[in-house]
Amino acid sequence: MENILVTGATGQIGSELTVELRKKYDSEKVIAAGHKRKPSEKLLSTGPFEYVDVTQKDSIEKVVREYNIDTIYHLAAILSAVGEQNPQLAFNVNILGDYNVLEVGRKYKLERIIIPSSIAVFGPETPKDNTPNETVLRPTTMYGITKVTGELLGNYYFYKYGLDVRGVRFPGIISSETLPGGGTTDYAVEIYYEAIKHKRYTCFVREDTVLPMMYMPDAIKALITLAEADISRLKHHCDFNVGAMSFSAGELAESIRKHIPEFVCEYKPDYRQKIADSWPRSIDDSAAREEWGWKPDYDLEAMTEDMLNKLSKKLK
Ligand code: SER
Repeated sequence: MENILVTGATGQIGSELTVELRKKYDSEKVIAAGHKRKPSEKLLSTGPFEYVDVTQKDSIEKVVREYNIDTIYHLAAILSAVGEQNPQLAFNVNILGDYNVLEVGRKYKLERIIIPSSIAVFGPETPKDNTPNETVLRPTTMYGITKVTGELLGNYYFYKYGLDVRGVRFPGIISSETLPGGGTTDYAVEIYYEAIKHKRYTCFVREDTVLPMMYMPDAIKALITLAEADISRLKHHCDFNVGAMSFSAGELAESIRKHIPEFVCEYKPDYRQKIADSWPRSIDDSAAREEWGWKPDYDLEAMTEDMLNKLSKKLK
């Protein structure tokens, strides 16, 4: 893993992952790639940046050739809520994007490809509590369908072509650096911004909606630890459940009220409630723990404290 390309580097996870990889490896050899969103100053000043459209294989190939890329963290994707507004776009970016990255990986014999998946691979028929790694995968969102396809394609390229593809099923990711772009779990990020700015928030899912969540430092740790794991220990490849915490929207608001007592949260469920209701409440991540030593550091209280600290400085 010497020359690394991060697609979706302007996104919620990509922006922080790129900076972390640049600290860990030679920063000039970690190439950030974005498409629609404007890259931040931090992204531009810490290493190379390229525009890549993952729906166009040539666009990926050009950068892979130019920088002699051996590893891709493929994070470019359309999230669940935007995916329901525009399923065709989600299909193109997520399914064609994955396929193009895998094909480039096969052609250039890349050393490793990391493609995150999501709890959105599960659906209404999946057991909701402590959801096993191996279970029913019948999602009802286009986003979920693209993520199941990504997992299956990644596993296929591993067994068929020996391409080392790996991935985790992320829960909702919470962070203070870059906003997520249209997911169902975005309320768990917005609530912190609004609590600081206006001491009020109108949440788009019901108070009793419980979903699995993770704080960004744990998400970055999961990706890098899995990418570096000894392959001989891996029985799974593209479909590891990873858990950290589960809470209801009401419990999240309560954890904020411990720091901002006057904070008021209202609940006005919209179309995203149905998506949230189709996902698990908590997940069993014992395969990740056994095969590559997964262990999260943050629970709800620790995350809330850190988020409020970081955002109060940022929003001053
Ligand atoms: N956080 C994502 C979403 O809500 C799930 O992977 O779309």
